[in-house]
Amino acid sequence: MLTVNTEQWVNQLRRQLQRANYAYYLQDNPIMEDEVYDRLYRELQALEEKYPELITPDSPTQRVGGGVSEGFASVKHNIPLYSLENAFDLSELAQWVARWQNQVSEETTVNYVCELKIDGNALALTYENGILVRGVTRGDGETGEEITNNVRTIRTIPLRLDLENPPARVEVRGEAFLPRKTFEKINQARSENGEARFANPRNATSGTLRQLDPKVVAKRQLDFFAYTLYVIDENTTINPKTQAESLESLQEMGFQVNPNHKICQSLKQVGDYYQKWQEEREKLPYETDGVVIKINSYALQEKLGFTQKFPRWAIALKFPAEEAPTKLKEITVNVGRTGAVTPLAHLEPVSLAGTTVQRATLHNTDFINELDVRIGDTVVVRKAGDIIPEIVRVLPELRPESAQPFIMPTECPECGSRLVRPEGEAVTRCVNVSCPAILRGSLVHFASRDAMDINGLGEKMVENLVSQGLVTSVADLYHLTVEQLTQLERVGKQSASNLVSAIAQSKHQPWSRVLYGLGIRYVGKVNAETLTERFSTVEELARASVEDLKAVEGIGEEIARSVYQWFRIEANQALVKQLQETGLNFQAEATETPPAETTIAQPFAGKKFVLTGKLKHLTRSEAQQLIERAGGKVSSSVSSKTDYVLVGDKGGSKQKKAQELNIPQMTEDEFQARTMGL
Ligand code: IVH
Repeated sequence: MLTVNTEQWVNQLRRQLQRANYAYYLQDNPIMEDEVYDRLYRELQALEEKYPELITPDSPTQRVGGGVSEGFASVKHNIPLYSLENAFDLSELAQWVARWQNQVSEETTVNYVCELKIDGNALALTYENGILVRGVTRGDGETGEEITNNVRTIRTIPLRLDLENPPARVEVRGEAFLPRKTFEKINQARSENGEARFANPRNATSGTLRQLDPKVVAKRQLDFFAYTLYVIDENTTINPKTQAESLESLQEMGFQVNPNHKICQSLKQVGDYYQKWQEEREKLPYETDGVVIKINSYALQEKLGFTQKFPRWAIALKFPAEEAPTKLKEITVNVGRTGAVTPLAHLEPVSLAGTTVQRATLHNTDFINELDVRIGDTVVVRKAGDIIPEIVRVLPELRPESAQPFIMPTECPECGSRLVRPEGEAVTRCVNVSCPAILRGSLVHFASRDAMDINGLGEKMVENLVSQGLVTSVADLYHLTVEQLTQLERVGKQSASNLVSAIAQSKHQPWSRVLYGLGIRYVGKVNAETLTERFSTVEELARASVEDLKAVEGIGEEIARSVYQWFRIEANQALVKQLQETGLNFQAEATETPPAETTIAQPFAGKKFVLTGKLKHLTRSEAQQLIERAGGKVSSSVSSKTDYVLVGDKGGSKQKKAQELNIPQMTEDEFQARTMGL
């Protein structure tokens, strides 16, 4: 239904896109990332399609590009520069194939040339009798700016073609760009000089190309990849018949051609190329925002021709956007295991880099204030590679009147105690040691893969255990029984018994993992390993002074203080004692500190084993020998007296029995690790 709101929103979008267009094309001062522009543009397009009565002649959707600025002479292109139609996924690509195939009537199989779509600025270069005479920016495709002197500074553009008999006229098109490293250097220098930083390499390239002083351009070290060749000469032998041949000729003439282009025989191959570069593009030294797919044969290109704006024989298949606008619906706060209170943004779902994003961290109050973000705002979210999504900035022009600023609560949403924000710190904290949120966070961390690796003890189970009062500290985990667990909602006997044995099994984790699992601030996995190498028992570590700790390579002041203070807190000392009594490893294992020559290490002294399932690396009798060498015994059936069940592939009934009796199960890998050197 068309509402006043829709109309207002369309007008707001349109104004915003117009401003962005003007800033980008005429002022050389972009105010919006391309990806954001694309999304807003598409939204406007969709709304106009749905409600054609809202279309106005000045809508950005009704024209192709921007005008030309006044600094340079504006010249008409010898051959206009078309832009490319965009596809955003493989199904849109398939539609394009169906369209051009339809046009050529008979079934045609073709080759495609796939190229990376370099994120820079297109240039049109004219060579007369082999000499570079003119370099022009794309402009609006019909008319561009003559920047020949600037173009000459680009070292990858030949001033003279490397040909014995150059054709009378050659037109070359390609992309000028700034490699990531160069771009970073430029921005660093700009920051140091108090100048505004460029938003991205593409904007930096366009700003550079339009510098009036070629010396400045030369310093910026632009680069260039050529991708289109026109030869205008009746009598030349250079006569490429395909895009692939053109790329070869360009290379022979002395141009840099992107080495990652590929001839593809099928849509499947095109899809694979796209997939490959989507995954690997971050590793390239320059930015690319998609793949350009061109029909290889010039004869077929000619047959297909052009629409008003695009060639029908080429298309740009864009990579999933890493940035997009969306609405901020709500801000809640989350209390972590260190008590840090983190504001969390709840967003209208938006698809980014192949996933749907609904939440983003807002870090702390300072971050929110700096962004000046309000509930109801339209914000730009970014998700690059594996990074957690974050809000990059707000689009204040789209702020509704009803937008509300966020106010940090003064009381913990979990336990109601007063929150504190120490002076000079950005983080607000709950300092109540028995806050359930802190307890939950500590338990999840303790059970996590790199710490005690307790299978089945994820966030949901932890929440269940804490809310039912079954666990009030990590030590309580080791006293849980199958009966207690089966009383919880949605926990069956099997999963209860699996969890109890996984917890029991975790007692064998080495000292370094136990230390990491304790969740001492700044003691990550690597620091825990470093510390346990130097301090082979918890007693030694607890006794260490800040100086002793700092003396360890890799341990700085902050970590040293944190560890020292942790061991000075009584509740922590009590926790260590409880866990020690439970049987956790608070000292390095025998294999880590070699035993005295006279004693033989017997890691399984007095322990009773049962073997079940097929082992990968050992025969049963080899395993038995090792157990005996380690001081243990092997029996054939599982009983309450069994200490360990060594489980191979397809454990069967013995494994089941062990689970029922809560007998720790040992994997072959762990067994090998513990019997190494025997
Ligand atoms: S072919 C008619 N090839 O993308 C052929 N363009 O949206 C049009 N671009 O203006 C260009 N890499 O600035 C082509 N390998 C490539 C490209 C490429 C980047 C840019 C170019 C063009 C825009 C089209």
